Amino acid sequence: MTFKAKMTALAAVLAATGVFAQAQAAEVYNVGSNMAFAPFEYVDENNQPAGFEMELIVAIAKAQGAEVKLNNVPFDGLIPSLQTGAIDIAMSGITITDQRKRRVIFSTPYYQSGLAVMVREADKDKYKTIDSIKGKALCAQIGTTGAITARKFSGKLVKEFNNAPETFMELQTGGCEAVVHDKPVMDYYMARRGTKGVYRLPEVLSAEDYGIAVAKNNQKLADWLNVGLEKVKASGEYDKIYTKWFGAQK
Ligand code: ARG
Repeated sequence: MTFKAKMTALAAVLAATGVFAQAQAAEVYNVGSNMAFAPFEYVDENNQPAGFEMELIVAIAKAQGAEVKLNNVPFDGLIPSLQTGAIDIAMSGITITDQRKRRVIFSTPYYQSGLAVMVREADKDKYKTIDSIKGKALCAQIGTTGAITARKFSGKLVKEFNNAPETFMELQTGGCEAVVHDKPVMDYYMARRGTKGVYRLPEVLSAEDYGIAVAKNNQKLADWLNVGLEKVKASGEYDKIYTKWFGAQK
């Protein structure tokens, strides 16, 4: 038998036993994210998903020999999409809360965040403390911890929007007095977009940890994500991606 013939025969045996097919096809997981939350996730000028979390989940999957497909999903549709199986993984700046833990399993935390308050720059002297915005018209994003907090402050006076940029716009056009949302997203918006006219109160409302969410019956996938996260931390990949999006400061 020639070498080539031997190889062909071997390939046939492997294909028949399924070994070859298995080695070839990488597992593909569907990831859901609300991609209007820079620098964590957004759609870039080439219409591609970009941001810290998009790069991190790709790196985690790669470290585990798998692939991901990134899907743009409304924030309040993420947990229902996990429950129906439309997506396998939700990564979208999701704060780990006890309430959400009843519906999904979270990975170990991968980013420390928190809520903050943004006002119009012209109102900087009017609203100096978080107490001063209580009872005012507030903007927040549907389904977020910011919306829950805003409602505690102002009840029915809260206007809710589908994504973060819409809340910032509404503030700037005078539709509300302040936005309650995640601090790093406000800071990125103000710094990178060169946005003038808005101001973030220095006082921070809460400390929150982000976790990657999977369906309640998928502990195996949560464990798999945790191992992948450990791998990208150990390899220095996490730090590399972090520094790219947030700078050297931790
Ligand atoms: N951290 C907040 C929460 O879990 C807001 C997350 C919003 N994420 C997004 N991609 N818009 O409620």
